[in-house]
Amino acid sequence: MPENLQVLLAARPKGAVGPECFALREAPLPEPAHGEVLVRHRFLSLDPYMRGRMDDVRSYSPPVALGAVMEGQSVGQVVADAAGFRAGEWVLGGRGWQLYSAVPAAGLSRIDAEAAPPSAYLGVLGMPGTTAWVGVTKILGVKPGETFCVSAASGAVGQVAGQLAKRIGARAVGIAGGAGKCRHVVEALGFDACCDHRDAALAQHLAEACPDGVDAAFENTGAAPLHAVWPLLNEFARVAFCGMVGETSADPRPPGPSLVQVVRKRLRLEGFIVYDHPREFAAWRKLGAGLLARGELAWREDVTQGLERAPEAFRAMLAGRNFGKTVVALG
Ligand SMILES: NC(=O)c1ccc[n+]([C@@H]2O[C@H](COP(=O)([O-])OP(=O)(O)OC[C@H]3O[C@@H](n4cnc5c(N)ncnc54)[C@H](OP(=O)(O)O)[C@@H]3O)[C@@H](O)[C@H]2O)c1
Repeated sequence: MPENLQVLLAARPKGAVGPECFALREAPLPEPAHGEVLVRHRFLSLDPYMRGRMDDVRSYSPPVALGAVMEGQSVGQVVADAAGFRAGEWVLGGRGWQLYSAVPAAGLSRIDAEAAPPSAYLGVLGMPGTTAWVGVTKILGVKPGETFCVSAASGAVGQVAGQLAKRIGARAVGIAGGAGKCRHVVEALGFDACCDHRDAALAQHLAEACPDGVDAAFENTGAAPLHAVWPLLNEFARVAFCGMVGETSADPRPPGPSLVQVVRKRLRLEGFIVYDHPREFAAWRKLGAGLLARGELAWREDVTQGLERAPEAFRAMLAGRNFGKTVVALG
């Protein structure tokens, strides 16, 4: 009788993930309940999101419990006929870092192992490929002639994202770690350029690779690549915060608010300038005047007398020594 083999979360990492975080355990084969299918996993997907699940923090999914099987998706084969599936069929949906799992039939989907190697359903045809597709077309809406930039460009998501942007007719620029990856991104994947984030001159190289700035940035890592692309963003550029794998293990965490939250809580960051909304001036004046007239809007001014005191008042305002709207009465 075969045994199951499992990888458990043995300890939560502090910063980088060490070997002490995992433990190997032999276990009996899972007993499929009614409506469940026993699957022998053949390929396990390892993805950056798993790092987040190792921390005891609230996210869009609960953390892996200490002592529990590490979370992950696999493709595999059905062990015995059950719930409409036939033994030997290839399926996507096995759960956990283990050799076998019993999965509700509704959580499994058949894959065509003739059309593509089974492992492709974990990558290019699976979750990462779909992520690239959604990010490029739905979130960023990349257009022909734009400059598109993606970090972790040779990785599961990035390699697809850049090729999709290229197919749309954009200039595709990647950021990757090391000369070998960068060469692959340009020569094998067809990006227009790729810059090495391990090179101290990344910012300069990226600026040279994006002479017209960046219109659409697909952010996969945070850290140095995000810092390099930030000053190159054009007006009305879009940034898709897909992942922050470069920051999730950083210890100590980088200063400033954690951009990991942008992904985990699906925050939307959008800059605006009021003059992009010229019609709202008249609309607000009418509405606000009514509120003032009815005593429904409180307001306060900080009035300085005399133009000669304007510089002083201005400096005071910048230092927070104003109280209310700063104006200068000119007599
Ligand atoms: N939002 C979603 O639904 C969703 C779905 C899937 C994936 N993701 C996110 O997408 C990102 C890419 O995932 P993936 O599966 O395609 O992984 P991947 O790119 O195949 O592998 C991770 C890569 O991250 C890069 N990296 C790690 N630490 C870095 C650092 N400090 N600075 C710069 N780069 C660093 C490395 O590439 P280099 O050597 O090239 O730097 C590494 O190869 C991850 O952040 C992941 O969490 C999000």
